[in-house]
Amino acid sequence: MDRLKVLLTRQQIAKKVAELGVRITRDFEGESVVLIGVLKGATIFLADLAREIRLDATFDFIAVSSYGNSKQQSGEVKLMKDVDQSVEGKNIILVEDILDTGLTLTYLRNVLLGHQPKSLKIAALLDKVSRRTQPIQGDYVGFEIPDEFVVGYGLDFAERFRNLPDICILETDEETS
Ligand code: IMP
Ligand code: MG
Repeated sequence: MDRLKVLLTRQQIAKKVAELGVRITRDFEGESVVLIGVLKGATIFLADLAREIRLDATFDFIAVSSYGNSKQQSGEVKLMKDVDQSVEGKNIILVEDILDTGLTLTYLRNVLLGHQPKSLKIAALLDKVSRRTQPIQGDYVGFEIPDEFVVGYGLDFAERFRNLPDICILETDEETS
C-alpha cells in the first residue's frame, strides 16, 4: 500500500508561489516574458505562477523523456518536444516542478540557449539540493526539500498523484515492508 505524508500544504505553496510571482514581476518590469513549462510536472505550478505575474506573458511547453515508472533517474535526458514558437530575443523563464540531480534542467538550458533568447531564468518550485550532481541552480526557487520522493501539485509517481493539492512524501512498499 502507498502511504502519503503531507510535506507542504496547499496554503504554504500558494503563499510561496505568490512571492515568486512578485519577484519575477519586479525583475522583468516593463518587459515581456515567455513561460516555458516542462511537461507534465510543471503544469500546475505554471498555471498558478502565471496568475501571480503581472507582465505581458506567453506560455510554451517542452517535454523530455522521464524516469519511466521508477523513482530512479536513468541519467539520460532526451528531448521529446521543443517549443512551438520562436524564443529568439525573448526573456525565457523555464518553469520546472523540481530540481533534483540537475540533469534535466542542465540539458534543457542548453537546448533553450541554442534558440538564442535575450535571457534565460529558471523557476523551480522544489529543490533537492543534496541530490545535485550538476552545477546548476534555480533563479526562483520555492522550497528546499530533503531527499525524499514527493508527489502532488503536478509531481507524479508512475503518472499518479499529480492532482493532489498538497505536496506529499510517498512511501511505497519497497521501503515500508
Ligand atoms: P533531475 O534531472 O534529476 O534534476 O530530475 C528532475 C526531474 O525528475 C523532475 O522534472 C521530476 O520529473 C523528476 N523528479 C525528481 N525528484 C522527484 C520527486 O521527488 N518526485 C517526482 N518527480 C521527481
Ligand atoms: Mg518533471
